[in-house]
Amino acid sequence: MPLIIDVLTLFPRMLDGFLAESILGKGIAAGHLAVSVRDLREWATDKHRRADDRPFGGGAGMVMLPEPVFAAIEQVQTPGCRRIYLTPDGVPLSPALALELSQQKHLVLLSGHYEGIDQRIRDKVIDQEISIGDYVLTNGTLAAAVLIDALARFIPGVLGEEKSLTHESFTSKLLDFPQYTRPAEFRGMSVPEILLSGNHAEIEKWRHARQVEKTRQVRPDLLK
Ligand code: ADE
Repeated sequence: MPLIIDVLTLFPRMLDGFLAESILGKGIAAGHLAVSVRDLREWATDKHRRADDRPFGGGAGMVMLPEPVFAAIEQVQTPGCRRIYLTPDGVPLSPALALELSQQKHLVLLSGHYEGIDQRIRDKVIDQEISIGDYVLTNGTLAAAVLIDALARFIPGVLGEEKSLTHESFTSKLLDFPQYTRPAEFRGMSVPEILLSGNHAEIEKWRHARQVEKTRQVRPDLLK
């Protein structure tokens, strides 16, 4: 059974290219996951298809209306599904969280826009709030894309080689080692000798040392 993901957004076309390309596009074509992107305006009831309004109490910006969002979630949700709101004030996305979400049956991702969404949505029809980092995007649609991409990599079969998951940054809490490909000599720069030696044990050792070195330089917090 593929993982089913419904994305509810005001900007569905933002995801067209993203879902069609590369590893994710292939994963969808191969049936490892099924993503359907829904325009929240489908559930807007007034004749202007409004999805937002000014905040009670004053202040800048617009707030997403409860009616269309409740109606959308109530229509697409299934028993046991995880209803997620993408927001900079959510819990930070981590590899562990991406892995956990990749093992669910059905995710509903709500992408907010403008200054936020009516709190009653968060209180009643959202199970989990997730942030993709400490910066603010103009809307949550890209955040939903990032979440889908990060979790899809954990679905068996999506990455061609299972191996590429085991070595990479963050599954091991160390940053990656440097990679080289042909030619062995390029504009006077040569590939480290050890990588051409065929000695796999020594190559492993060298790579691990480079990982520790890079992590110490760039992300010393990961070594603690
Ligand atoms: N929407 C806007 N910024 C966001 C962020 N950093 N993470 C998740 N959703 C967002």
